[in-house]
Amino acid sequence: MTLRKGTPEVTETAAISLPSDRPTPFDPPAGLAGLREITRLTYADGHQGWLVTGYALVREVMADRRFSARAELQHMPFASAGPRQPAPPGMFISTDPPEHTRYRHLLTGEFTVRRMRLLSARIEEITGEHLDAMERQGPPADLVESFAVPIPAVAICELLGVPEEERGRFSAHAATLSRGDRPREEMVAAMTAMVAHMRELVAAKRARPGDDVLSGLTRSDLTDEELANIGFMLLGAGLDTTANMIALGTFLLLRRPDELAAARAHPEHTDRLVEELLRYLAITPFLVRTALEDVELGGELVRAGQTVTLSITSANRDPARFPDPDRFDPLRPPGGHVGFGHGVHQCLGQQLARVEMRAAFPALLARFPSLRPAVEPEQVPLRTDTPIYGLRALPVTWE
Ligand code: HEM
Repeated sequence: MTLRKGTPEVTETAAISLPSDRPTPFDPPAGLAGLREITRLTYADGHQGWLVTGYALVREVMADRRFSARAELQHMPFASAGPRQPAPPGMFISTDPPEHTRYRHLLTGEFTVRRMRLLSARIEEITGEHLDAMERQGPPADLVESFAVPIPAVAICELLGVPEEERGRFSAHAATLSRGDRPREEMVAAMTAMVAHMRELVAAKRARPGDDVLSGLTRSDLTDEELANIGFMLLGAGLDTTANMIALGTFLLLRRPDELAAARAHPEHTDRLVEELLRYLAITPFLVRTALEDVELGGELVRAGQTVTLSITSANRDPARFPDPDRFDPLRPPGGHVGFGHGVHQCLGQQLARVEMRAAFPALLARFPSLRPAVEPEQVPLRTDTPIYGLRALPVTWE
């Protein structure tokens, strides 16, 4: 059925389910190839919505206020734990302006250049300390457990001002939450403990403010509950994402000797390596929005209440935007990928994430020149059933 310009109609094309079978751990699901920019999608709960794959259209939706990020309006393209609930106060990633704007401004004021510079120096130290520990312990090691998770976990402790003596407890719960595959009771226990910990932390910061984000936010009119939820959200948004970028990025480099050699030969281009990994791996494979009113999108009519899944994976491999998009080129001039999203919700922690990755990759590669997977590549367990894609473990060895 063809659409007449200016009169969008509902098309009759058959709906698909979200493709998920990846030909390699690093490539998009095969079923995404060749899709139209916008396709009908059947959601896990039977909802009939849309899948958007083109770079320009993905950005268009993320910049359009007629599409909401509110959790309770969303249907998920994969099976999730029941209906979505409204975001608790402070979890602004799942809110819309103007509610979102108020929180975002307060937080932006805390993610200052000065703070990022201080954190940067600390993160280099942390990276060195974890590499020392790996070396002391000797091969083999699980890179996820020994390196990829601890670095963002400690970075978030620094950001939130978690005192040294509490970091063991904090990191243990964070590691459980980040795995996502533990028994339900264990996950619930870790989440309850983490929320309680955040509340204790907020109380401590109110009593004795330090030079950290939470302390800074206590000077605003936010409630204790909002502050604790913001702390929890920063952990949720900043841990698994960066950890999986470090783990999956390392796995990719170890499987591509020529590109690894190019990256090693050009440490001055670590920023390019990091941006290319973000583009190529797209570890938040999709984002979800819901239409608040009828919207014409790419020649289709998205009805109010319909959910639209935005494929970040496809957008980052769109040949109309990136020349030779399926080629991983660690020296590709950076820019343009939507790995950190776009529009008002664009990643608040992107500078911190970059600082972590720019510290982690070169230091790891320099410390262990003979680093390689300790198992057959097919045995590296992928993490495919959570909104953040990556690895459950990466057994590595070295001489
Ligand atoms: C490589 C690592 C990271 C990736 C790939 C990533 C990706 C993203 C993406 C795609 C979004 C947009 C979500 C949407 O539009 O629905 C987002 C938002 C966000 N990210 Fe990140 N992120 C990373 C690291 C971090 C870190 C380290 C932090 C903080 C410690 C962080 C905090 C946030 C927050 C607070 C938001 C919500 C912003 C808003 O709604 O205004 N992220 N991130």
